[in-house]
Amino acid sequence: TSPLRLGIAGLGTVGVGIVRIIQKNGALLESRAGRPIEIVAVSARSKEKDRGIDLSAYAWEDDPVALAKRDDIDVFVEVMGGHEGPAKDATEAAISAGKDVVSANKALLAIHGQALAEAAEEKGHVIRFEAAVAGGIPVVKALTEGLAANEITRVMGVMNGSCNYILTRMEDAGLSYQEVFDEANALGYLEADPELDVGGIDAGHKLALLSSIAFGTQVDFDAVELEGIGSITIEDIRQAADMDYKIKLLGVAQMTGRGLEQRMSPCLVPDRSPLGQLQGGTNMVVLEGDAVTQVVLRGPGAGEGPTASAVMGDVMDIARGVRISTFGQPAKTLRNARAARAAVP
Ligand code: NAP
Ligand code: HSE
Repeated sequence: TSPLRLGIAGLGTVGVGIVRIIQKNGALLESRAGRPIEIVAVSARSKEKDRGIDLSAYAWEDDPVALAKRDDIDVFVEVMGGHEGPAKDATEAAISAGKDVVSANKALLAIHGQALAEAAEEKGHVIRFEAAVAGGIPVVKALTEGLAANEITRVMGVMNGSCNYILTRMEDAGLSYQEVFDEANALGYLEADPELDVGGIDAGHKLALLSSIAFGTQVDFDAVELEGIGSITIEDIRQAADMDYKIKLLGVAQMTGRGLEQRMSPCLVPDRSPLGQLQGGTNMVVLEGDAVTQVVLRGPGAGEGPTASAVMGDVMDIARGVRISTFGQPAKTLRNARAARAAVP
């Protein structure tokens, strides 16, 4: 059987994790997919950087767009990041060249995902993004496969590990927001632009993707009501604790009479609830459907192994010939949730 041939753009935390999984578990992947999964070519900014992995068997491309267009790859794996520039250009190039795409890039997908998915489908290809939402938690698969027969009534959860780390550390150590922010930044827990984390933007990107899948609506990041954690004080946390509550950066998406509501904001949750008990950088997503009632998924929302695990889940689907759209239905059939809202007096 023919191998599934990958081109990987980005060899940072996630890219290295993908290479490690393929190098370590290659035989396991082949037995499960029924065909070998091979890395053909890779790209990053610096060819010289020591990444702690052996890349000698793979072709090198300086330009991720050239990688995306190579005739000898079947799947373009985008793990560079950034919602414009090389990540967008290379993803578009891969789609034009008739490749399937697997991406961990929530910023790119929350803003351009609708257009990219429609373009891929026009070509008879798929763009998959399990890793973009809640890292290692297979929440996209849960919605599009396991819960496919449900009308989803609500999706909520903690989808940014850095914010959950900051809030739980403030609680546990009694430190101020600024002290914990500085500590998290020094430890490398925050995005290069920390406002993406603490401003709720990164979590908002994830919620926009998840609600699109859950409610069959077009990805609409601009419609997410966003509030970050920057103004939470230690006094707020103490007052919440006095009432047996915790403060969490909580995303909630639900279909109302006025259309789709999407909110990402600091919320009070009962101390003893699963969300209240969520510690450190962990993520939790709660899915509610008319038949299943409630499903709670908890796990690592970031990191080399967990995020690469999610990327490889998508790669395995493609290797097995699973062509389900990442939205659970063709992207062009997704409804405009704002138009639905405007239509209701
Ligand atoms: P990262 O560690 O910063 O790595 C980014 C990689 O992309 C680096 O190897 C970099 O090259 C390469 N790159 C950047 N610009 C490039 C360009 N113009 N041409 C070629 N290569 C370029 O990022 P990451 O943490 O792995 O994240 C990758 C993606 O996964 C992002 O979209 C992120 O949001 C998403 N994600 C990450 C996590 C996580 O836990 N890290 C979780 C979920 C989703 P050099 O190494 O040479 O600089
Ligand atoms: N900055 C993100 C977080 C990384 O803290 O959850 C994973 O998406």
